[in-house]
Amino acid sequence: MINTYPLVRPLLFSMDPEEAHDFSFAQLDRLERCGLLKALIGKPIIKPVELCGLRFRNPVGLAAGLDKDGKHIDALASLGFGFLEIGTVTPLPQPGNPKPRMFRLPSANALINRMGFNNDGVDACIERVKRSRFYQEGGVIGLNIGKNASTPIEDAANDYVTCMRKVYPVASYITANISSPNTKNLRDLQGETMLRQLLQALHQTREDLSNQLGVRKPLFLKIAPDLEAADLKLIADLLIEFEIDAVIATNTTIARTGVEGLEHSHETGGLSGLPVLARSNQTIYDLFQVLHNRIPIIGVGGILSGENVKQKLDAGASLVQIYTGLIYQGPKLITDCVRAFP
Ligand code: FNR
Repeated sequence: MINTYPLVRPLLFSMDPEEAHDFSFAQLDRLERCGLLKALIGKPIIKPVELCGLRFRNPVGLAAGLDKDGKHIDALASLGFGFLEIGTVTPLPQPGNPKPRMFRLPSANALINRMGFNNDGVDACIERVKRSRFYQEGGVIGLNIGKNASTPIEDAANDYVTCMRKVYPVASYITANISSPNTKNLRDLQGETMLRQLLQALHQTREDLSNQLGVRKPLFLKIAPDLEAADLKLIADLLIEFEIDAVIATNTTIARTGVEGLEHSHETGGLSGLPVLARSNQTIYDLFQVLHNRIPIIGVGGILSGENVKQKLDAGASLVQIYTGLIYQGPKLITDCVRAFP
């Protein structure tokens, strides 16, 4: 692959972050449609991994949030990801928070975002997934689900169940995202009583759907990096009790360690990129200690190099996902990460 990203990045970083996102995907989609993207990037590295009954073409995935609506699946697949997590989607379309809501902290290789689950709703997303070539060719696509901002937190389980019923037939796996800091009270779902209720509802729904459709789809839970070891022990016990298939650790952090004093560091939202690496790795490590290999961990948070992937594997992750690193390093990071796996 010719790495042109260092040349393109200054142009992208001169734009507002959301505009840069839209501009980049307009170009990538165009290149994808005329078949040039594959030619530019080269063939994806095939390093198959089996996990939770799924066969991933390689162990490096796209983290949720970059393609919330499934609009860019084939372009992203051509960049070389082993799997794609689409979403977070909610039952109804919603605009998310007012702009600006995404900020770069370049000297820290970080972003702060408070997008607030802006998305076209679960139905629109499912149609796009079905139309994608990656889906039709059997690529692994996870669908990440959440709740609408207007749904009271006490009724959150209904939104997750609604989304789960809809995405079940098309998703390779389903992720319940209970860890975004940008939907009011969402992370309360990580507390024991609410988590038990939610997991019970999802477990029951999965039982019903797998009986009806004759196929059991893996169910993952995505957690925050801001949990204490004691919280993680509680969560681990519930994951085992309700037969969750994998944990995705972690989402963005509400902490500001490592970015103090930088422009935008005071913005409300979740911090991602290099400053979340240590916290995220600690969460993976603490979880691994209590899970004892009974449930695999998908490591995400702060991967900017192949070396960072090795740290995630050492902490206990089986697969990894990236988001912010892609903004800072470009698509070459995907190949660097795949190569870091033994
Ligand atoms: C995210 N992330 C995210 N996660 C999720 O489960 N649902 C979502 O909708 C989003 N949205 C989102 C938007 C933006 C702008 C960012 C930067 C991140 C979190 C993401 O998937 C990942 O867990 C964290 O960003 C940590 O990984 P990185 O970015 O440090 O590789």
